[in-house]
Amino acid sequence: MNLILLGPPGAGKGTQSQRLADARGLVQLSTGEMLRAAVKAGTEIGLKAKAVMESGGLVSDDIVIGIIADRIKKPDCADGFILDGFPRTLAQAVGLDKLLKDSGTSMDAVIEMKVDDSAMIERIVGRFSCSNCGAGYHDTFQQPKTEGVCDKCGKSDFTRRADDNEETVKSRLMAYYRETAPLIGYYFAKDKLRAVDGMAPIDGVSRQIGAVLDEIQKA
Ligand code: AP5
Ligand code: MG
Repeated sequence: MNLILLGPPGAGKGTQSQRLADARGLVQLSTGEMLRAAVKAGTEIGLKAKAVMESGGLVSDDIVIGIIADRIKKPDCADGFILDGFPRTLAQAVGLDKLLKDSGTSMDAVIEMKVDDSAMIERIVGRFSCSNCGAGYHDTFQQPKTEGVCDKCGKSDFTRRADDNEETVKSRLMAYYRETAPLIGYYFAKDKLRAVDGMAPIDGVSRQIGAVLDEIQKA
């Protein structure tokens, strides 16, 4: 099954993608994570992306379509993947349609995660993740079971994103409304759109997504 999780910064795309990857064996493809890895490694793409990401803007369509084109060809994607943070513009959506067509596959569903703008800043400013395995946490909403120890890998080193501050979140939100929100109409018109209430607690959102996927699988 191939899915897109669509929603603004802090909607829970990464949180729910990690859960779907664990529960359903789908590969999580987060362009944000891939770009952060490129910045950390100091690659050519990373050098181009760093300042754009820190300002809350969008990295160029060519770069992100290129990254996804290379990644979805890999054998581990054959059994299904979740796109987390891609596509983010109409050009990326059209690019993705072409990639899927060329590889003889298709998108099963686009899950829109609906959240209130007022929740995003709190979610983002309180976010941290495990430096070793990438598991995501929140100061209030998703603390590790044992304080200071990652639930998944047991390590004790955590990190916060350079773009997770109030000012940058507002630019990211603007970019979302300007460039990404039109994709809701694009996928509605293609009959792929399914909405979930992203304001529910994390387990509740997982249950809603699970119900949508079960329904699609039965159809
Ligand atoms: P990216 O990494 O994709 O960031 P984003 O879209 O801003 O989304 P986030 O990762 O901030 O939010 P999320 O929805 O994953 O939320 P999460 O699950 O962590 O992109 C970063 C940058 O890279 C972009 O700004 C851009 O520059 C560039 N980029 C990436 N892709 C690109 C593309 N395709 N084109 C161009 N540029 C691109 O949850 C947030 C927090 O809330 C967590 O702490 C979590 O624990 C908590 N939480 C989650 N769900 C709930 C809930 N239901 N209730 C309470 N708390 C919750
Ligand atoms: Mg994310």
